[in-house]
Amino acid sequence: MKVRSFIEAGAARLIIDNPPVNALSLSKGVIASLTDMLQAVLDDAAVTHVTLEGAGGRFSAGADITDFDLPREQIEPTRNLLNLVTSARKPVIALITGEAFGGGLELALACHARISTPEARLGLPEINLGLLPGSGGTQRMPRLVGVASALDMMLTGKPISGADAHSLGLVYGVHEQDQLRHAADALAVRGLPPHLGRSAAAQCEELEHMREKHAGMLDRSLAARHIVACVEAAIDEPLDKGLRLEADYFDELMTSAQSRALRYAFLSERSVARLPGLEDVAGRRVTSVGVVGGGTMGSGIAAAAIEAGFNVILTDTSADMLARAETVISGIFDRDVAKGRITPGQARERMARLSLADDYSGFRDAELIVEAVFEDMAVKQAVLCALDSVVPPDCILASNTSTLDIDALAAATASPARVIGLHFFSPAHIMRLLEIVRGRATAPDVVATALAVAKRMRKVPVVAGVCDGFIGNRMFEEMLRQAYQLLEEGALPEQVDGALERFGMAMGPLKVMDLAGQDIGYKIRQRRMAEYPDRPYSIVPDILCEQGRLGQKAKAGFYDYPDGRKAVRSDAVDDMIRRISAERGIARRSICDDEIVERCIFALINEGAKIVEEGIAARPLDVDMVWLNGYGFPRDRGGPMFYADELGLPYVLARITSFGELTEGWAWKPASLLVTLADAGRSLASLNSASGATQ
Ligand code: COA
Repeated sequence: MKVRSFIEAGAARLIIDNPPVNALSLSKGVIASLTDMLQAVLDDAAVTHVTLEGAGGRFSAGADITDFDLPREQIEPTRNLLNLVTSARKPVIALITGEAFGGGLELALACHARISTPEARLGLPEINLGLLPGSGGTQRMPRLVGVASALDMMLTGKPISGADAHSLGLVYGVHEQDQLRHAADALAVRGLPPHLGRSAAAQCEELEHMREKHAGMLDRSLAARHIVACVEAAIDEPLDKGLRLEADYFDELMTSAQSRALRYAFLSERSVARLPGLEDVAGRRVTSVGVVGGGTMGSGIAAAAIEAGFNVILTDTSADMLARAETVISGIFDRDVAKGRITPGQARERMARLSLADDYSGFRDAELIVEAVFEDMAVKQAVLCALDSVVPPDCILASNTSTLDIDALAAATASPARVIGLHFFSPAHIMRLLEIVRGRATAPDVVATALAVAKRMRKVPVVAGVCDGFIGNRMFEEMLRQAYQLLEEGALPEQVDGALERFGMAMGPLKVMDLAGQDIGYKIRQRRMAEYPDRPYSIVPDILCEQGRLGQKAKAGFYDYPDGRKAVRSDAVDDMIRRISAERGIARRSICDDEIVERCIFALINEGAKIVEEGIAARPLDVDMVWLNGYGFPRDRGGPMFYADELGLPYVLARITSFGELTEGWAWKPASLLVTLADAGRSLASLNSASGATQ
């Protein structure tokens, strides 16, 4: 039974019980059961009022996302249920605990009153899925809390607490969970609060202000524009007309490319941790995490582990580094306190779970240790080898390497099966991506443990095989190759970055390298040139480095950084690029945004397909999750693999083949996987379906 009901002293209690999140599922019968049960208690003369609740301390996370591909007529029952609630002649009161999200909150909005716990979370996150609240939310929310608060909730998708919802008038009262029914019964006897109307003029003014405040979002997101249009109707039009407009826009958004991509991203972020082949493998128990190395990465990893509830022992041979690490970690928690995310008491409790040590003696009972020492094979091998002889036999040894061969690191130990790569991204306590690098010998339960630990840290974990650059950096190198080459052919840094930022990348690739430090790329290119002399690379970034323009840290890279952070176009760099083209006999030409985007993004697609083909990534969705969560690929385009499918593989392949005529044509050898799939009329996403992800 997905809905339970019982009658208690004249009050009918309807409880949604559809684990794990009480989604209002059509296909699993939740909506049908709720409707039938509500109708029955409304018809029952012995029932004076009705309360709606969610089982397991959670009201409802909203519509079932897996129902979203149902045709319109099949989602009509949800709207019929809401009509039944609003037209009920007996009070129907929502008792909100945990989350009331999306359709869950809209169901509560249709009720005659809402009561919640102070810490409940109420939100309309549909924008995150490229949708609008399609069950009356755009109409009822502004009427209840005003245009500004309603739009803030709908355009940011961020939930508010029960306590804040109370101050906005969204919930009638806040009570501890065990008092909610009693409070609802008292309210039903006392009579429901009257609804106070708002002045249309004031609402119009708020709407204009919100248009300015969210201008960037309105520019990019179709859902945001439709939400604003619906809210405008909520000010000017009667409820039924507003509801019809909302329903029409909802249907349009459901089939939009942005929503398809965002829904895919949501589901893939969850299926990415369910790696094919590991379904029945249990992970090992981990209660504490050891970290070796008190530098930036070590401190960030320690903070992330503490935040996830682990006890942490951090070691470093240098007392100064240990002291610095402690300051960095407490600084992270202090900032959380300052932002109101945690209380000072919680920050103290977190710091109490950190121990510092200058040797490995504290690791005698360790379960998982992450080394984050200097990125050098011999240094890391020595650390792993020393740990290997101290820790218990079932302790997992993880390396935070971003470039080194995990198999070679594992070979330095007597037990390579327990060695794994955990490639955190900087800052480690903030970045969501974690590349889990599985060596040839890594045991399956070691991988399963890493996935479970990552989930506890609220990371998006992507398992990668061993190769140079793993998934993310290997693909990024191909994007950079195009970006640099475009500079030599006629583009300038602002144009390359600008085109990709307009496409939606969080930051253009040249700015990314300025941030990371140009010297990092320099070393890699020198290594590549020695390894593959037949693969010429643009010399622009090398000359930049040789001029000392190492990026933000030098206040000069592809751009100038007079204040250390904000990129400003540099005439000197533009001149240098023009000079290099002339010296190499390249006639510079005008290059349009489309060419920049296609070359940089298709280079990612081609390399991503090779990564899937080689089994380095298990599925295309793994590649996409790396790019959405670690490299700023626009979420509303789903990731390079999803985007390739949206464009159509035959088109992508034709362009890749035509780029083979260019100077760096050798880099455009099409991935055989693209050729095979395009020939067979299949999509990259068809390779995901076995894992249960959408598309
Ligand atoms: N419909 C269907 N399934 C949903 C869902 C929904 N609205 N919301 C969450 N789920 C599923 C997840 O896919 C996940 O499934 P899995 O275990 O098979 O991977 C499971 O519920 C647990 O969700 P998860 O996000 O991993 O758990 P959490 O405790 O960290 O977060 C929520 C729970 C509710 C806060 C979070 O899932 C959420 O924000 N959901 C989206 C809600 C939403 O957008 N609603 C609007 C839809 S109209």
